[in-house]
Amino acid sequence: MVDTVLQVEGLTRTFDVSKPWLNRVLERDHKQFLTAVDNVTFGIERGETFALVGESGSGKSTIAKLIVGLLKPSRGTIAFDGQPMSFESGTAMRNLRRRFQMIFQDPFASLNPRWRVGEIIAEPIRTFGLASGADVHREVARLLEVVGLSATDAGKFPHEFSGGQRQRIAIARALSSKPEFIVCDEPTSALDVSVQAQILNLMRDLQDEFGLTYLLISHDLSVVRHMANRIGVLYLGRIVEVADSKRLFTDPQHPYTRMLLDAVPDLALSGRRRTPVTGEIPNPINPPSGCTFHPRCPHVMDICRGDPPAQTPTATGAAACYLLTEPVGS
Ligand SMILES: Nc1ncnc2c1ncn2[C@@H]1O[C@H](COP(=O)(O)OP(=O)(O)OP(=O)(O)O)[C@@H](O)[C@H]1O
Ligand SMILES: [Mg+2]
Repeated sequence: MVDTVLQVEGLTRTFDVSKPWLNRVLERDHKQFLTAVDNVTFGIERGETFALVGESGSGKSTIAKLIVGLLKPSRGTIAFDGQPMSFESGTAMRNLRRRFQMIFQDPFASLNPRWRVGEIIAEPIRTFGLASGADVHREVARLLEVVGLSATDAGKFPHEFSGGQRQRIAIARALSSKPEFIVCDEPTSALDVSVQAQILNLMRDLQDEFGLTYLLISHDLSVVRHMANRIGVLYLGRIVEVADSKRLFTDPQHPYTRMLLDAVPDLALSGRRRTPVTGEIPNPINPPSGCTFHPRCPHVMDICRGDPPAQTPTATGAAACYLLTEPVGS
């Protein structure tokens, strides 16, 4: 039986990006909205790593913030373990929130510089009432060791650590509430390449040890390739393709996925016609009609400029592209 930990349905988030000064100059209401996340649907199964990839501005961090409750959806629903998430702060929501955590790109910005590491890690333990008194210190010491640091590090401040060590502290803090599900937003992008692999290995070990489920967000295909079971590809706030990790790399269905893969020299596949990277990401305030990728697509057809394509089932997932449903040349 499929055990879905997180189910996101039709998730949409718009931002009001009106310029107040423009309204004053023009003496009229000139509202502008940006749709950062547009009707996104996906599910994550227990124990798996589901990755979201996409270029800068594709909506990755907005999705992360919506899931952990830092932002409110404009439309759509998020359910955790079958329970719909709400913005209310009742006991039920509090209990639910304990069960998922988030790791951010910049471990320095996410750790309070004035707090000792021990206090940083202890805070969720106390907030959720998971331990008290000396047990809190014992738990902090255990968590520091779990992430490859030492119990004595509890007395130090974040600035005394390297970037990789700080990310270990952020991971220890995330683990402190005994979560089942962790949203990792570019967890290694701010780190040196040599340190990235260590942190990714640690994340994988912790996943095995604690049965964690991850939503891994990254712009880096080589990171998701080695971590993810399934991958969703985002373009301008929409999921254009979802597939098993292996399948996505060997048999990409959406032209944008192919373009992304071909932009990474190591991943460019032999025996497949390359899709050269052309054009730039359009302005999300005024996106193209239909399939928003159509101005950059080498296979664009008339139909692509009309209604957005629906998700069509593929071998291991789905893709939103008229090439999968229309006879070529229509
Ligand atoms: N608070 C906000 N107000 C207005 N626009 C926003 C806000 N947050 C995000 N956006 C816009 O929403 C879009 C998606 O942003 P988001 O940060 O989710 O992208 P991302 O995929 O995480 O990018 P990156 O790889 O650079 O981190 C962008 O066009 C961004 O400018
Ligand atoms: Mg981001």
